[in-house]
Amino acid sequence: NEGSLWGGRFASGPSPELQALSRSTHFDWQLTPYDLAGSRAHANALHRAGLLTDADHAELLRGLSALGERYAAGDLQPADSDEDVHGALERLLLDEVGPEVGGRLRAGRSRNDQVATLFRAYLRDHARTISGLVLDLVDVLEHQAAGHLDVIMPGRTHLQHAQPVLLSHHLLAHAWPLVRDVERLRDWDARVASDSPYGSGALAGQTLGLDPEAVAAELGFSGSSANSIDGTASRDFAAEFAFVTAQVGVDLSRLAEEVILWTTREFDFATLHDSWSTGSSIMPQKKNPDIAELARGKSGRLIGNLSGLMATLKGLPLAYNRDLQEDKEPVFDSVQTLEVLLPAVTGMVATLAFNTARMAELAPQGFSLATDVAEWLVREGVPFRDAHEVAGACVRRCEELGCDLPDLTDEQLAAVSPALTPEVRSVLTVEGSVSSRSGRGGTAPVRVREQLDDLRSASAAH
Ligand code: ARG
Repeated sequence: NEGSLWGGRFASGPSPELQALSRSTHFDWQLTPYDLAGSRAHANALHRAGLLTDADHAELLRGLSALGERYAAGDLQPADSDEDVHGALERLLLDEVGPEVGGRLRAGRSRNDQVATLFRAYLRDHARTISGLVLDLVDVLEHQAAGHLDVIMPGRTHLQHAQPVLLSHHLLAHAWPLVRDVERLRDWDARVASDSPYGSGALAGQTLGLDPEAVAAELGFSGSSANSIDGTASRDFAAEFAFVTAQVGVDLSRLAEEVILWTTREFDFATLHDSWSTGSSIMPQKKNPDIAELARGKSGRLIGNLSGLMATLKGLPLAYNRDLQEDKEPVFDSVQTLEVLLPAVTGMVATLAFNTARMAELAPQGFSLATDVAEWLVREGVPFRDAHEVAGACVRRCEELGCDLPDLTDEQLAAVSPALTPEVRSVLTVEGSVSSRSGRGGTAPVRVREQLDDLRSASAAH
């Protein structure tokens, strides 16, 4: 069983079927830089523990650097016979420095503590990349909001006209969840940083006097695992990461769904830039929101990656089980999905042109000022239950007359209720309506300007 990591007790090598099933190099090969960094830190720990001579230590470091250079140059490949990235890199290191020196590196570590560390390190790097990409999208939402501070649109609940809002207020409502996703990644990172499993061995720790804290520090972690079983067997860090990527997907999908609606002929609220939309192979007139649809579609895939991973984990006894090799593909896929999707969504939003006249035209329709009438009456001393009835009666009267609330004459208003003096007209404009929603978090222009500043400081904090 030449070249494998466990030949000693086996009389024959693995069957081709087993090899085909077991092999993970087609997806874990991208962990190579992290594996090499772990091996360097481990070689240093062995050296400090007196288990490597200065010469062997130097030779191992040289060999690991040589592999790193070959990988960077695209000149390092696993063989078909390699089971995983860890075995492949050990074989390649033996080729590089010879079996005498190369064979010393595996002392005191297991692929179980290795992979649990490398996967964390890989995800920490990509958490930073994804955070940066999410913040790029926050940035363009912020720019679009800042550029449309005077635009009023119909705000909706249940997709029905509800109350007029500023377009900028609506756009910022898509930005805040994304800022929270970045905060989630930062919180996640702080937890993962203090938990480097290197030194946990296969499950029970190591006997060689190696210092896991020093290895952790060298790999950019703030601490090492408090429990070697937990260090090698837990994957909640991967599930939590997959949750945040799924949540980003859901947030993108909700934004995407609105872009899809807004660019329909019926809504006609927005137009996609030609470079950020697609055509049809048969219908010459078509302009399709494919980026938004792919965002909506890929959010399903991100959720699937999370639920698949959690299903893998739920029945596993401690400690390491080979099932855990199934942890990587879904999470790698979530990383790759978002790293391709986010820049596309950002470009689509940055270049979206709003049909502000259409929004303004629809904003007062559908009796969207009825709440303003009721709240005006409350300010005049009318109990809200009565005010609600009166405003509702105005809507009914409008339906009879086939008009909207601002079209009612002073006489028609007074006929509904004597409390409805002509002064109520101050809130029967969409401008009056949005300006009056001036409590913190409201859609009044003065509040939305403040909100923009708040969002800028929240996103600059990352
Ligand atoms: N490739 C494995 C994984 O990703 C690590 C190897 C551990 N294998 C083992 N037989 N203990 O989980």
